[in-house]
Amino acid sequence: MFEGIGIVVGVSGGIAAYRACDLVRLLVKDGMDVHVVMTEAGARFISPLTFRALSGHDVGLDIFGTSESIGHIALARKAKAIVIAPATANTIAKLAHGMADNLLTALSLAARVPVLVAPAMNSAMWENPATRENVVTLKRRGVRIIGPAAGEMACGEHGEGKLADAGAIAETVRMAVALPKDFAGKRFVVNSGPTREPLDPVRFISNRSSGRMGTAMARALALRGAEVTFVHGPSEVPPPMGVRAVSVETAEEMRSKTIGAWKRADGAVLVAAVADFKPVASAAHKIKKAAAVPAFSLVETRDILAEMGKNKGKRFLCGFAAETRDLVKNASEKLREKNLDMVVANDVSGKAGGFGSTQNAVTVLTKGGARFEVPLSDKDAVAWALADVISGEMIHGRRKTNAR
Ligand SMILES: Cc1cc2nc3c(=O)[nH]c(=O)nc-3n(C[C@H](O)[C@H](O)[C@H](O)COP(=O)(O)O)c2cc1C
Repeated sequence: MFEGIGIVVGVSGGIAAYRACDLVRLLVKDGMDVHVVMTEAGARFISPLTFRALSGHDVGLDIFGTSESIGHIALARKAKAIVIAPATANTIAKLAHGMADNLLTALSLAARVPVLVAPAMNSAMWENPATRENVVTLKRRGVRIIGPAAGEMACGEHGEGKLADAGAIAETVRMAVALPKDFAGKRFVVNSGPTREPLDPVRFISNRSSGRMGTAMARALALRGAEVTFVHGPSEVPPPMGVRAVSVETAEEMRSKTIGAWKRADGAVLVAAVADFKPVASAAHKIKKAAAVPAFSLVETRDILAEMGKNKGKRFLCGFAAETRDLVKNASEKLREKNLDMVVANDVSGKAGGFGSTQNAVTVLTKGGARFEVPLSDKDAVAWALADVISGEMIHGRRKTNAR
């Protein structure tokens, strides 16, 4: 997804400079071509050697350096984004005033790509009106400010000014550079995770869904520019960045929030493992252990996908079919009966991937009769492949197939 994308990581002279190591490591792990540029002060906090080892490239330090590859214009042209983490109050002030007195500020000024700034400083410096005004100026010019976070600072004081978490900075970089942005201007609703149907205030009926596949799906669409409403049940993973997350618990809540968002959507991908049955009633108080084992009567929950299929219009509707047998047969019935544009069938019998796993293998069937096989891969990679199919079907109207 991010293989070979050029990124400049700027490290200025704050105590949090060492935390840029984690950021570089995460971006390199994604396959990005990371070049680190340090200010003179930055290089006093952490050795450039560390970043050379982590990034596999010489570190840019000197604007008057002779190496062609590290020239500031060359670097600015090669990068798809510049992320400055940590950004000191001083570097932020220089950026706000268009200064170009070191390699980092010069290449930021020469850049025609997104510049992302993660400030880190003592809270008094952060709250100083000079810094505030500089940050407002940068935001007005389209610079993305990431954080800072609140908490205990290196100086022992509490307050706002800590460098944002490396994972959050890396994800913001991915959002900025991910391509294609084929869902820009499109609104999606994605639902995800299990539901819980209460028996009493402490017990419920649920299922093994971890929420990982739905989370990956919402993330892939958001990375590709979609405006995503993410309706999720209690999941093992947090909602992705850059979506409007709506937390629900029961099948009925899942239905009302999903259908609510569907009213304004261009498309929907329903990944949630919504309970098919729920107890007729939930006891108001905890059911006590007694001589007789309690019997529970169940009723069917309302079918969200079928309801959305009925008033679909030209909107794109994709459902997931978790099956333990007759995968393709059951999925194609679901596609037809529920008026879907696409169904993603996954085998949850526990052989490979599926519920709870970080991996999945799926078969995709489309209304036009195309069939795609996505081999066992990380759920993020599966979601990206599914976004490719959705894009082909919804935006380009293609009917390709990769399976007989
Ligand atoms: C021990 C120490 C810690 C510092 N930590 C920070 C910091 O976290 N944030 C900040 O804005 N400045 C911090 N400074 C001040 C900067 O290093 C100083 O403003 C420097 O000129 C920044 O240069 P640069 O923006 O070119 O990297 C610190 C200075 C020292 C000596």
